[in-house]
Amino acid sequence: MSEKFQAVVIGGGPGGYVCAIRLSQLGLKTACIESRGSLGGTCLNVGCIPSKSLLNLSEDFHKIKGLANKGIEIGEVKLNLEKMMKSKNKAVTVLTKGVEFLLKKNKVTYFKGHGSFRSQNEISIKDDKNKETIIHTEKAVIATGSVPISLPGVDIDEKILVSSTGALKLEKVPKKMIVIGGGYIGLEMGSVWSRLGSEVQVVEFLDHITPGMDKEISSEFMKILKKQGMKFIMENKVETIKRNLSGAVVSTVDKDGNKNNFESDVVLISIGRKPNTDGLNLEAVGVNLDEKNRIKTDKNFETNVKNIYAIGDVIDGPMLAHKAEDEGIAVAENIVGQSGHVNYDTIPGVIYTTPEVASIGKTEEQLKEFNKKYKVGKFSFMANSRAKAIDDTEGFVKILADAETDKVLGAHIIGPHAGELIAEIGIAMEFGASAEDIARTCHAHPTFSEAVKEAALSVDKRAIHS
Ligand code: FAD
Ligand code: NAI
Repeated sequence: MSEKFQAVVIGGGPGGYVCAIRLSQLGLKTACIESRGSLGGTCLNVGCIPSKSLLNLSEDFHKIKGLANKGIEIGEVKLNLEKMMKSKNKAVTVLTKGVEFLLKKNKVTYFKGHGSFRSQNEISIKDDKNKETIIHTEKAVIATGSVPISLPGVDIDEKILVSSTGALKLEKVPKKMIVIGGGYIGLEMGSVWSRLGSEVQVVEFLDHITPGMDKEISSEFMKILKKQGMKFIMENKVETIKRNLSGAVVSTVDKDGNKNNFESDVVLISIGRKPNTDGLNLEAVGVNLDEKNRIKTDKNFETNVKNIYAIGDVIDGPMLAHKAEDEGIAVAENIVGQSGHVNYDTIPGVIYTTPEVASIGKTEEQLKEFNKKYKVGKFSFMANSRAKAIDDTEGFVKILADAETDKVLGAHIIGPHAGELIAEIGIAMEFGASAEDIARTCHAHPTFSEAVKEAALSVDKRAIHS
């Protein structure tokens, strides 16, 4: 007799484990299946957490070297990469174990193994010794996430030709690193290795980095990264990567058809990620995929097959941990008949470089495309007293508001703590606030958040400090 559950979640990432906890909180007998041996998915194991740990540590290393200029002399600063990696690994272990504890606390049964459909209500779980367990479920949620995309004919070995996973565990600092793709991963991991001493060159197919981001922010971002020492080879498409004795040669073709070769010790391939539906045996149940191989769902996250749902990176939308989590909660609530929903207009995106870059809502380019009349308010951190006091003045806040109603339509920040500052705008947008509502809210002095208030004032051309 197979064990019976009311709900089974396949995948223990931020989408899956959060969904399983919420389902259990709502009273359903729930199981969560995870194949990688530890919970937390891409995010905790090989994504958000280890990358933020290394971003923070490499920034500390870089900053400490510059402190002598500010009157703090600490002698020779040396890098111990092995210890740095251990510190990063510890953060990962603590958090993934923490998720295991949370599942136990919430009475979710955790199965270690690969889950796949035998039928609509039967799930097979194969452990690492190929031992099979079959469980029965009324509802199934697919939360199997995403995996890196590679280039045709390129075999990622995670040593010389690396994805983000390899870039998070290099054993020595490469002298030269080529990063293919000027997106989230390329710029975050490129920053890490650049601060630790690598000569980093980013090869980007487009004429700007971070596609989809407000163009004004994206060009300021590139300027700042260039100043930090990163090099950019724009409008070049990578055609081949060939291994040689010491590293690899990346061959590109530019927009005029000229061919270029770049040598490097390590090549990071960060050209996007694809949904992971491998080995789920979706054919057995007839779940439909879209043209990008994402699982197709309706607004309740239900697939074309009744009682089978999907959330997170494996469906449409931004591939972000908080988006997956919110969908996990929403689908659980929908499954028990509540009205869970996700507001896709207020999902923030943050790049954790120095300075941070954060964005929410519409970009200026999108507003133009939709012929929406808008006002722009901007305020530079150069005029923010807290930023001045600690000499961290790069960047600005940009708020876009409806020209007629003053409702906030989007905000884009490059500067210190941008990732934290964007939360204020998120709340404002959720409540349908106007720029004036933000401008009339008292902000503590001296804080970076005063730059948000001033940008809101500037929407109506009445900033005080600029
Ligand atoms: P995942 O986290 O991918 O989890 C899916 C899980 O399902 C995996 O653990 C996988 O092993 C498991 N699985 C797959 N198939 C099966 C199966 N058949 N049976 C059992 N288990 C299975 N996002 C942010 O918001 N902020 C960040 O700072 C950030 N940084 C990132 C840095 C890097 C380097 C990378 C690669 C990604 C980063 N992301 C970040 C993106 C974020 O990690 C993903 O959006 C998020 O993890 C998606 O969650 P998910 O639950 O949908 O999928
Ligand atoms: P990305 O989609 O962010 O960027 C890929 C870049 O590669 C684009 O600029 C694209 O134009 C370029 N590109 C594509 N093919 C190319 C080619 N052949 N030659 C040169 N350039 C090429 O993808 P990335 O950086 O791999 O990240 C994947 C996803 O992971 C992100 O989109 C994001 O959803 C998530 N992520 C989120 C983070 C965060 O929230 N801080 C951090 C890291 C990843």
